[in-house]
Amino acid sequence: MLTPAQTAVIKATAPVVAAHASRITGTFYPLMFERHPEVRSVFNQSHQRNSAQPEALANAIIAYASNIDRLEVLGPAVEGIVQKHVSLNITPDQYAIVGTCLMEAIGRVLGDAVTPEIADAWGAAYWQLAELLIAAEEKEYARKAALSGGWRGARRFRIVEKTPESAVITSFRLAPVDGGSVMDFRPGQYLGLRLTVDGETVHRNYSLSASPNGREYRISVKREPQGLVSGYLHDRARVGDELDAYPPAGEFVLKDGADTLLLITGGVGQTPALPLAEQALAAGRRVIYVHAALNGSVHAFRGHIDRLAAANDALTPVYCYADPLPGDRPHMTGLLDESRLAGLLPKDGGVAAYVVGPKPFMAAVIGALTALGLPASAIVHEFFGPKEALA
Ligand SMILES: Cc1cc2nc3c(=O)[nH]c(=O)nc-3n(C[C@H](O)[C@H](O)[C@H](O)COP(=O)(O)OP(=O)(O)OC[C@H]3O[C@@H](n4cnc5c(N)ncnc54)[C@H](O)[C@@H]3O)c2cc1C
Ligand code: HEM
Repeated sequence: MLTPAQTAVIKATAPVVAAHASRITGTFYPLMFERHPEVRSVFNQSHQRNSAQPEALANAIIAYASNIDRLEVLGPAVEGIVQKHVSLNITPDQYAIVGTCLMEAIGRVLGDAVTPEIADAWGAAYWQLAELLIAAEEKEYARKAALSGGWRGARRFRIVEKTPESAVITSFRLAPVDGGSVMDFRPGQYLGLRLTVDGETVHRNYSLSASPNGREYRISVKREPQGLVSGYLHDRARVGDELDAYPPAGEFVLKDGADTLLLITGGVGQTPALPLAEQALAAGRRVIYVHAALNGSVHAFRGHIDRLAAANDALTPVYCYADPLPGDRPHMTGLLDESRLAGLLPKDGGVAAYVVGPKPFMAAVIGALTALGLPASAIVHEFFGPKEALA
């Protein structure tokens, strides 16, 4: 617990730190990677290059310092951080590394303005948050280890099937090398993978794209231009190859409530929606499955969703192609905007929207849904990278 004097210092200095937060986190990461190369591999370096992760940390620090005397409002944000950390097996000893480098970065950026009293208060504030995260993460690690088929830390998996799903997306079925069962996940969750590419250890998250079956997991990966891991998985990974996986995690999961689910995905953002749709249907809910793709050649899983819809009246697929090829059969063409989405919203209300895709896609779709009167509480979305502001 912070003392009242430390809390007062944080409140007084939060605006200054907030004004320099991007510079602080921009100083912090290179410093930490230089001092502690062992933690570098756990971070996706593309999220450093485009500043998404330094910005996510800066926003977290600002939100924390601005709410230092009412931490309960941070609940959902903290849960998101915990799930991301757990998916990458972040451990308590690493908090000392982050704490030391972050305090040094604050000192470097703010210089003499950081008096011993201010350094003490920010150090105490860091450890208050760190201890909260460490405790929540330990609880999650222990809970997952205790589940049937659960585990803790890295577990060796083997690629048992590699299936192209479209011109750019390939699925990988992963079974544990030890032959045991695997824990059920909540549809919408993702795996953290650790693999070695050209002698370098790298970590990535991939959403689970098939419903839980107790034996194995499936991920479906889009080839990114010059993408390190997706390129490796597409071009070089073979059936029989092995990699490490941490237990499934994530908070983009089915919520109770609305009778109708509007699943709206763009491109490879479809992956978490596949098991989510099946779970919602099994629970007797209606699913409007809206998928946007450039054209039929990059539209994965159409056959799967069409078969599901043929067997279940509660599922309505709606495919929207931005630029269809001759012979394509989309339900809509162009980009998903207010006019196209208006006709999909059920008249009787009771709808919740789940949106996944590239940032501009999510911004446009959520903007349109909001303009159509859907409240923010009825819309959830998932980033395939650090969370960012959508505006
Ligand atoms: C929760 C979550 C779920 C996810 N689920 C999925 C999923 O189901 N399917 C899926 O395909 N992905 C998913 N992702 C994304 C995935 O984790 C990877 O980010 C993605 O596969 C790209 O990784 P990569 O190593 O191939 O690309 P990276 O090497 O990380 O590169 C990413 C992009 O940055 C560019 N880039 C790389 N190096 C440079 C450079 N030096 N200069 C400029 N640009 C550069 C590349 O061209 C590329 O377009 C998910 C991510 C998260 C966080
Ligand atoms: C109080 C301390 C910490 C805070 C406030 C914090 C905050 C965050 C935030 C906000 C994110 C982005 C989550 C998202 O948008 O999905 C994140 C991701 C991450 N954090 Fe932390 N974190 C802390 C400590 C640590 C530690 C000790 C490590 C271990 C080295 C760590 C490693 C990571 C990694 C690897 C990611 C994912 C990065 C990526 O996608 O490239 N964090 N953290």
